[in-house]
Amino acid sequence: MAVIPVALGGRSYEVHVGADLLDRADGLLAPFLRKPRVPVVADAAAWAAHGERFTAVLSRGGHEAVVFEVVPGETSKSWAELARLTDWLLGEGVERGDHVVAFGGGVVGDLTGFACAILKRGCGFVQVPTTLLAQVDSSVGGKTAINTAAGKNLVGAFHQPSLVLADLATLATLPLRELRAGYAEVLKYGVLGDRAFFDWLAGNAAAVLALEPAALEQAVATSIGAKARIVAADERETTGTRALLNLGHTFGHALEAETGFSDRLLHGESVALGMALAARYSARRGLMHTGEADAVVQAIADAGMPSAVANLGLDCDGARLVDHMRHDKKMDAGTLPFILLRGIGEAFLARDVALDDVASFLDEELARR
Ligand code: GLY
Repeated sequence: MAVIPVALGGRSYEVHVGADLLDRADGLLAPFLRKPRVPVVADAAAWAAHGERFTAVLSRGGHEAVVFEVVPGETSKSWAELARLTDWLLGEGVERGDHVVAFGGGVVGDLTGFACAILKRGCGFVQVPTTLLAQVDSSVGGKTAINTAAGKNLVGAFHQPSLVLADLATLATLPLRELRAGYAEVLKYGVLGDRAFFDWLAGNAAAVLALEPAALEQAVATSIGAKARIVAADERETTGTRALLNLGHTFGHALEAETGFSDRLLHGESVALGMALAARYSARRGLMHTGEADAVVQAIADAGMPSAVANLGLDCDGARLVDHMRHDKKMDAGTLPFILLRGIGEAFLARDVALDDVASFLDEELARR
């Protein structure tokens, strides 16, 4: 069991990490619940797996869970679902001082967080992430958003939760592919800023993915600790520090766009491939040793994730992938900032990357055998 503070002055909160936290949810949530009825926005699959237990624990504390179920998948991060949810919350009489529980993965967390950011100009919410990706990344840090026809996460707000409960036992019901995709974000913290963690993961990836309790808790708590430090240093991504969390995301976004944001490539898988590309591009520019880049690629492959774009069967060239990048929301006055590496654990923000050069690099990568 670990408790990780996210230090943000008046908006500070704690992230609790441990097995079977849901069994203690009545006590942990008590300070945030003012009324007997507790609005819970839940991913339908996560609720089917864990809802009964959560409801029973809340009722032990004298609370009744009233549930708004969300269909799993990115399509739920829509204007239509936001309208349906805010109408429901208003119908439930949610007030500014109340807290809504977001129960599920990143989709539910992002949708609920944004609804709470705008409901009566802001009410409270608590995150109960049930996927590895949500536990180590999206539930912490207050980024909330929905998707629009123009792209992913283009409408949103910074709105911090009041508490995050990351129950490691909920990961037991995740499909292995999703678990691996979440592991990409774990690996990311090692690659971007913590060489010792990267080395530790090299020996412990199998144990983490097998959900061995001690290894899993160490991996999740270390990841959240890294995220908490970065968010505390740069809450709104204005100084370049929080931008480091986007390692792998610019290359990855192009791959996600090319595959239609479909199940062909999960978000975490695109981040893994994006990290491999960021490492290889950094080596190509002479910023990091080729051996170090190879170690990043190997760590991704060892975790059972795709690590080479040539194997994806894409029918496109580098210029087309770069075109997708031009629509990235990180585009800033005609330039696209990239997170590159001087070594494992030494990520930095590069503003001088020429997109033509990236297109040539991607042509080489697409042709590699
Ligand atoms: N997932 C990136 C961030 O929270 O900034």
